[in-house]
Amino acid sequence: MTKPRGRFIVLDGPDGCGKSTQIKNLVRFLARSRIDAVAAKDPGTTALGKDLRKILLDRQTKGLSGGAELFLYLAARAQLVSEVIRPTLARGAWVVCDRFSASTVAYQGYGPGHPPRQIRLITELCRIAEGGTEPDLTILLDLASGEGLGRITRSRSKDRMESRPLAYHRRVRKGFLAQAAQDGRFAVLDAQEDPYDLHLKIQALVAPLLV
Ligand SMILES: Nc1ncnc2c1ncn2[C@@H]1O[C@H](COP(=O)(O)OP(=O)(O)OP(=O)(O)O)[C@@H](O)[C@H]1O
Ligand SMILES: [Mg+2]
Repeated sequence: MTKPRGRFIVLDGPDGCGKSTQIKNLVRFLARSRIDAVAAKDPGTTALGKDLRKILLDRQTKGLSGGAELFLYLAARAQLVSEVIRPTLARGAWVVCDRFSASTVAYQGYGPGHPPRQIRLITELCRIAEGGTEPDLTILLDLASGEGLGRITRSRSKDRMESRPLAYHRRVRKGFLAQAAQDGRFAVLDAQEDPYDLHLKIQALVAPLLV
């Protein structure tokens, strides 16, 4: 008998909202539940994704057009899906991914203030990059824009995306919330809550997928 496909969980949200913290906790919880779970990072994880991440986030990168930025994110995602996410799910393991298409729609669609038609087009391009592999659940850790950036700058300097104006980040946050409102596969959590309380809520969200 073939193994059932694993589950695909995404943690997404604005910079500094607590994605890394909660992914670490979730992967540990899944291991305790005897589930083989692989953590992935978008962009990242693959060799191509790591190279593209460096270009995209390095503040030394100058003059990258909005279109080029969009397609580099999509290229990294297409590679991540084909090289890591799809094969992992196919062998019955879970994938817990740090960011995915919702980030592209928020940062490259809503962030620059594109009109709805353009945002719909970007959403369609994300479907191409995903190649039919869509998250079972996207957990959005919602946080006021200045809040997350403040958390980050306490420990390191801002990257190329984080350095954008607060107004851009406010549109990004709205973009995440708009997607969550339109798609029943999203869950929104208040990222201001205590990390352990958030972890318990994330456990409760994935519990129905364990069966
Ligand atoms: N619920 C929370 N409340 C307060 N601070 C938090 C919470 N969760 C994480 N932090 C702290 O906020 C900072 C950012 O957390 P973390 O790195 O997990 O966020 P992230 O979303 O992965 O950020 P990035 O966008 O940089 O990848 C860290 O210093 C972390 O300790
Ligand atoms: Mg992180």
